Amino acid sequence: MRVAMIGSGYVGLVSGACFADFGHQVTCIDKDADKITRLRKGEMPIFEPDLDRLVAGNTWEKRLDFSTDLSGPVAEADAVFIAVGTPSRRGDGHADLSYVHAAAAEIATALRGFTVVVTKSTVPVGTGDEVERIIRETNPAANFAVVSNPEFLREGAAIQDFKHPDRIVVGTEDERARKVMADLYRPLYLNQAPILYTSRRTAELTKYAANAFLATKITFINEIADLCEKVGADVQQVARGIGLDNRIGGKFLHAGPGYGGSCFPKDTLALVKTGQDYEAPLRIVETVAAVNEARKRGMFRKVAAALGGSLRGKTIAVLGLTFKPNTDDMRDAPSIPLITALIDMGAQVRAYDPVGMEQARQALQGIEFCDGPYPCAEGADALVIVTEWEQFRALDFARLKGVMKQAVVVDLRNVYRPEEMEGFAYHSIGRAAWAGA
Ligand SMILES: NC(=O)c1ccc[n+]([C@@H]2O[C@H](COP(=O)([O-])OP(=O)(O)OC[C@H]3O[C@@H](n4cnc5c(N)ncnc54)[C@H](O)[C@@H]3O)[C@@H](O)[C@H]2O)c1
Repeated sequence: MRVAMIGSGYVGLVSGACFADFGHQVTCIDKDADKITRLRKGEMPIFEPDLDRLVAGNTWEKRLDFSTDLSGPVAEADAVFIAVGTPSRRGDGHADLSYVHAAAAEIATALRGFTVVVTKSTVPVGTGDEVERIIRETNPAANFAVVSNPEFLREGAAIQDFKHPDRIVVGTEDERARKVMADLYRPLYLNQAPILYTSRRTAELTKYAANAFLATKITFINEIADLCEKVGADVQQVARGIGLDNRIGGKFLHAGPGYGGSCFPKDTLALVKTGQDYEAPLRIVETVAAVNEARKRGMFRKVAAALGGSLRGKTIAVLGLTFKPNTDDMRDAPSIPLITALIDMGAQVRAYDPVGMEQARQALQGIEFCDGPYPCAEGADALVIVTEWEQFRALDFARLKGVMKQAVVVDLRNVYRPEEMEGFAYHSIGRAAWAGA
């Protein structure tokens, strides 16, 4: 099958490369000429484990190529995927659909023969109808069907998730489109990945419901963690105690500094807006979004408390800047409001991230970027672990103690156990502080 992927970001590039790996003929298209130039040279514009190998292999086999011009690839395609960004719209928090609508209009003029136009971007209910309207209005002669096929991959494990999904959701009532989608995903039947065929609107809403539910789970355990600290309980054990119940499940029950990233914050807000528009308010999700926003910045209070209340004149070393490990994505990372608050309260911040430094420089001003965890800790009054990168899981604490001004660790991801932190004042989430020996 021939596939045109419009948008070659975290989702488009991974999906395009995986479809090529299944044996389909794929062109990944992007408006960003620099991105396409780099991809043609074999350079990855994003960090995603193993993506470089997958792209190189399929480019070599001539199943994958790159272009800034969609007209040729769309004309030849059996399926055209829209995988452009849907960020929060400035001002009201609705999903900004301008990129999706623009892509639909451009696709319309290039369509030849029966083509399935698939929305992979996360879009509010009814967007498929609008994409269909735009295409029909731009090119009344076009022969096409619009399908919703939301993506559930996680950055950092994107290839594994795409190739071994828990499920594939396909929203269409058009038989021809259903057949094309079945052929595209056929290689995954071997892995027995369930395909759910639904109406288009159901598929669109399923994606938001999934993200809102996961965001709720995280926020729930975060609030339980706060209560644990007050009553002398241990959130790790509470999470395990409830997670072993199959009805609850252990995933997304890790207390931390609040969720961030390119999806949960914007998708919860967009779902809230949809609920309000249709007079079916989603009060639980509204609360989750508000609680999480306040939490991210509020983490500065934990650092201040660890240093006796004041941050003025203190040097804080921050380890981990990206919103989670194994990605360079800084979008809505919890490190940003935390670091901003630390600076507002008079602290000096030094920071290190294994992969996200380039993106972090654009998102954060007024901090010193360091070359590794130990240079970062030099002269610091406190070391704060914000993202649980693998390389922060076995730090040499004797070495850290030697370079830090005060032996204070604030672990916002509960990477360590309090009893291991000999010689340090250790503060974590949802567990009693450890005064150090
Ligand atoms: N990042 C994730 O983990 C993830 C997971 C599931 C779903 N999603 C959803 O997938 C969508 C894409 O997310 P992303 O993280 O890949 O975004 P991204 O910003 O990394 O990539 C979007 C790309 O689209 C390009 N683009 C925009 N308009 C274009 C046009 N008209 N023609 C060609 N290219 C165009 C941009 O230049 C950019 O490279 C969003 O709706 C997002 O919510 C993301």
